[in-house]
Formats: sequence, C-alpha cells, structure tokens
Amino acid sequence: MADPISTNNTGIPVESDQYSLSVGPDGPILLQDNYLIEKMAQFNRERVPERVVHAKGSGAYGTFEVTNDVSQFTRADLFQPGRRTKMLARFSTVAGEQGSPDTWRDPRGFALKFYTQEGVYDLVGNNTPIFFMRDPNKFQDFIRSQKRTIPSGLRDNDMQWDYWTLSPESAHQVTYLMGDRGIPKTYRNMNGYGSHTYLWINGAGQRTWVKYHFHSDQGVDHMTDMEAAAMAGEDADHHRRDLFDAIERGEAPSWTLYVQTIPYEDAASYRYNIFDVTKTVPHSDYPLIEVGRMTLHTNPTDFFTHIEQAAFDPSDLVPGIGPSPDKMLQARLFSYADTHRYRVGTNYTQLPPNRTVNEVRSYAKDGAMRYFEPNVARPYAPNSYGGPSADEERWNKPAGWLVDSAEIVRSAYTLHQDDDDFSQPGTLVREVMDDAQRERLVGNVTRHLDNGVSVKVRERAFEYWRNIDPSVGDRIAASFG
Ligand code: HEM
Repeated sequence: MADPISTNNTGIPVESDQYSLSVGPDGPILLQDNYLIEKMAQFNRERVPERVVHAKGSGAYGTFEVTNDVSQFTRADLFQPGRRTKMLARFSTVAGEQGSPDTWRDPRGFALKFYTQEGVYDLVGNNTPIFFMRDPNKFQDFIRSQKRTIPSGLRDNDMQWDYWTLSPESAHQVTYLMGDRGIPKTYRNMNGYGSHTYLWINGAGQRTWVKYHFHSDQGVDHMTDMEAAAMAGEDADHHRRDLFDAIERGEAPSWTLYVQTIPYEDAASYRYNIFDVTKTVPHSDYPLIEVGRMTLHTNPTDFFTHIEQAAFDPSDLVPGIGPSPDKMLQARLFSYADTHRYRVGTNYTQLPPNRTVNEVRSYAKDGAMRYFEPNVARPYAPNSYGGPSADEERWNKPAGWLVDSAEIVRSAYTLHQDDDDFSQPGTLVREVMDDAQRERLVGNVTRHLDNGVSVKVRERAFEYWRNIDPSVGDRIAASFG
C-alpha cells in the first residue's frame, strides 16, 4: 500500500517534502513556497520556555484507586471508597535545565494531577517531606543560588553552601539532599510527599489537617556519587528512559498513599508548628493511615503535548481539600498559575493534560489559543437567562480556619515547644540513618565542599554540620585536615 500523502498544517496536500520551490534548479527560492515558510516558522516556535525550576522531567498517566475508607476525614471525590481516578504524574530534578543529567544530586519533584469528577486536583510535592525554607520571600534567592553564577554561567557549589549556611532552616532538607535521597536509583525507587500540611473537610464540614506520603512499592533505592557521575556520562536521560521502558514492558510502577491525620485543634498546641514546611511530624505522634494506590501504566503518546505542557498548580484544590496557613504553600497558590499563563499561555487549562473530565461552566472567555468555546451564552453572573451559579454549600463552608486578629508584621512563625532548625536533621542523621548511610553522607558532603567552595564558606559549613550532629560535623571538617 502506498504511503499516505503528507499535508501542511491546514491539511493541504504537500508538493514536496524534499525540494523548495525555486526559479529553475539553481535559482532563488520563492516566497510563495507556503510549505517551506510554514516549516521554518513552526520550527522557530517549537520551544515554549522551559520551567524556571524543575525543567527536566518525565511523566506518565495512571490510575489512583482508593483501598481504605477515609471518608470520615474528607469528602473529596477521589478519596471516596471504591473510587478509581485517572491521573498524571511528572517527576523532575529541580535546578538543572531540560538537557541536564537525571542523576545530578538534587531533590526530585513529585507532581500529581488527578482528574476527579469535581475538577482537577493537583498535589505538587517532592521526594522529601520538607523544604529548604519556611518563608516564600526566600525562594527566589535560594533557587538562584542553586542555579548558575552571573559571570560564568556555571553551577557553583560556593553559592549553594553560602546560601545554605546563612539559612539554618535549610539544614533538614540539606541533610536529606546530601544523604541517599539526593540521588534516587530511578524515579520508580523514590517516595513522594505532599510536604505541606493541607486541610481535609468531610461531608459534615469537620476539618482535619493532613500530610501525604506516597511510598514506592518498588522500594526506595539510591545511586552513589560515583555511580551517578558515571551514569551522567553514559545516559543523561537514565531516569526518563527507565520510567518509560518499565511502563512499555508492562511493569507499571505503583506507590501506596498514606496520610497522617492531625485533629484540627491539635495544630495550636502541638510541639512542632505543623505549618512550617522545614519540619516533619513524627509518625509516633500521628501514625500513617493507608488511603490508596497510584499506578502509572500509560506512557505519553507525545512527550511535548502531555508532559511539557502539563501545568501543575497547588491552588487546584477540589471540594473536601483546602490549603493551610503554611506561608510557603500560600505563596505557591499564586505562583504556579501565574507561571503557566506565561510559559504555556492563558488558556493552558484547555490543553489535553490539563483539561478536566467534568463539564467546565466558567464565565471566562477569549484569550490567545482558546480551543473550547465557553458553554455559557452570556458571559456574566448573575444573569436571568439560565447561566450557572456558584455552589451555595461551598460558599457557606469555605475551606478555612480561625485567624486571630493581630498586627500586620514581617516575622518568623511563633515557635512551638520543640521548634528549632537542627534537632530534626540531627535525629535523621542519628536515628534514621545507619552507619553506612552516615558514612556516605559524610563522603557526599566532603566531595561537594571540596569542589570550588571557598575556605570561608567551608568553615561555616563545618559549623552548620556540627549543629546538625557534632560527630558528623567533626568528620567532615577532619576530611580537610
Ligand atoms: C515547579 C514556584 C516551592 C514543588 C515550580 C515552578 C514554579 C515554582 C514557578 C515552575 C512551574 C512550571 O513552569 O510549570 C515555587 C515557589 C515556591 C515553591 C514560589 C515557594 C514559595 C515548592 C515546594 C515544592 C515544590 C515547597 C514541593 C514540596 C515543585 C514541583 C514543580 C515545581 C514538583 C514541578 C511541577 C511539574 O512537574 O511541572 N515551582 N515553588 N515547589 N515546584 Fe515549586
């Protein structure tokens, strides 16, 4: 059978895939070669800006199925007993660019999108349960310190340690990062966390604080610095390839979702501030409760359409789930939709990976690249011509909490009984890591500090680690003689 005839983007049959239209075989090319012009112009516009962070990523579609009844805590459609919900996951490195090796030491993004019957729910977390800072005012400076210097455009360990050692609240996340979690063996071998505390609301309007934990059913595993460096040269796309190939082979990776539920009233008096994202909440105080399982079984048919254009947004919170007073989360509620409007375009929610499965009855209209017509006849509310109106129940029970009246200030959080920057990372080093893990931690930090970090910043790093754990700090310092 003959190959089908190629067309241009508007379906007009193409005259040639190989020769431009010219005046004789040796003459100039004609502007009327519409196909050539279309090809060049389209090519020039093939790239959208890469994500400002988490630029290099991989993803797949899957299903989330509920395995335990948590309806006493939330009325969210996707967590109701027996429910199966289509979903999309995107895993990523943070500081690198599109072409960066997958195996560079970095936290990994763990972004999830659930296509629920009441709209799209996004849970945009990482492979660590905590983060580098607790105030969003510091995020942009932090990211710049992890990316490239101004004069040389090079990554710079001095910049990274300068920032970290001047920001002691980073100690917990840096301890995770410099330990085994900093280089997962594959995306399939890492856990995921919502990291922030969120609010769950049940059918009766009762509120519970919640923290999400996705445990890899493949087990958690890591690469050493040496293995990762070798892999960066051998196959910079190792994690992307591993995920794609595993799904192609029918080995669909899965994660079991557990939550810690914290009674609403406990937040005020608990020994840690549960809204401070540099802290974990010990399982001994609030044990894990199983919720369900997510399985990634379907690869994208076009990486660009489905993974590059995927736009995750922590403010996509469905009925039954709300934000919390975590200042970092509050800032993220603004940041993501804003960056999507810039990176992808104002109608990004209409694109295949972002489009909800339920009917959109929004009054929004127009904008570049609008694909779906508004399904309201009159673009305003209220109107007396049968336009949709807001959900009275949600109006009367917003996903909120009691806010004390107080002076407007710029301030750190009020400290709770056990809040400080170094105790939890110290516990991680002493009680969670074993000897071999501690040994690798010391080695990883030493190698990192031995690579372009000034004596001044290095001395501060020794103190930073001594504050986390005196013995680990001394061992790191001793490596430099
Ligand atoms: C991506 C901002 C904190 C996880 C992004 C992007 C921005 C951003 C602008 C790029 C989005 C895009 O272009 O599609 C911020 C701000 C933060 C913050 C302003 C704090 C104030 C966090 C935290 C986490 C996180 C605490 C995890 C707990 C992610 C992930 C992505 C991302 C996973 C990639 C999403 C994807 O796969 O498309 N962030 N971020 N971010 N962020 Fe954050």
